[in-house]
Amino acid sequence: MPGRLKDKIAIVTGASSGLGRAISLAFGAEGACVVCSDIREESKGESQDEDAQLYTHDLVVQRGGKAFFQKCDTGSSDEVERLVECAVKEYGRVDIMVNNAGITAEGALGREAGDQPIWNVAEDTWDRTMRVNAKGVFLGCKWASRQMVKQEPGPSGDRGWIINIAVRTPGTPTATRTMESGKPH
Ligand SMILES: NC(=O)c1ccc[n+]([C@@H]2O[C@H](COP(=O)([O-])OP(=O)(O)OC[C@H]3O[C@@H](n4cnc5c(N)ncnc54)[C@H](O)[C@@H]3O)[C@@H](O)[C@H]2O)c1
Repeated sequence: MPGRLKDKIAIVTGASSGLGRAISLAFGAEGACVVCSDIREESKGESQDEDAQLYTHDLVVQRGGKAFFQKCDTGSSDEVERLVECAVKEYGRVDIMVNNAGITAEGALGREAGDQPIWNVAEDTWDRTMRVNAKGVFLGCKWASRQMVKQEPGPSGDRGWIINIAVRTPGTPTATRTMESGKPH
């Protein structure tokens, strides 16, 4: 049943690649106006599909949806506040906040580093990862909910929905598993 998100205003963080890109495209196809947000506009380019070179927001629009890109580092409170403001300026409200942006130790340092046992992990790696994976989710919840509580409820009776993308990585405590498991569930 397409159109389930008709005219809903959605922000997706980490929208340029991976799950964030897929979520943005799916939301756009369901009728949402999507604010595609990331630290980089271009995809990380791991996808092999023919549209891989297109920016996520351009692809949403090409497929008949509404979207625009807003640069935002989710670890920066000022930038997340501005992201919400931009969504409101363009579309009037925020119905859905998807806190998707996340990084892994191997993303930051290379796969070998991600497979390192915890006793070899530098504190700086932990700090950089937590800045995005934990603080970024907090900031997304903080600024989106601050906007949502001011809004009139939508047709569903809700003022807004917040979706936090978490990760479960059981196993031996490698750098990646330990820091990803620190993401809010
Ligand atoms: N891939 C998996 O197997 C998997 C499984 C479970 C959960 N997750 C979670 O899903 C989310 C997305 O994972 P993915 O595999 O699609 O990752 P990905 O690396 O493909 O995409 C992440 C996107 O986030 C962006 N990003 C990085 N730092 C940012 C920041 N500070 N501010 C804004 N954007 C930033 C990147 O530029 C990138 O476009 C992550 O939170 C991850 O923990 C992934």
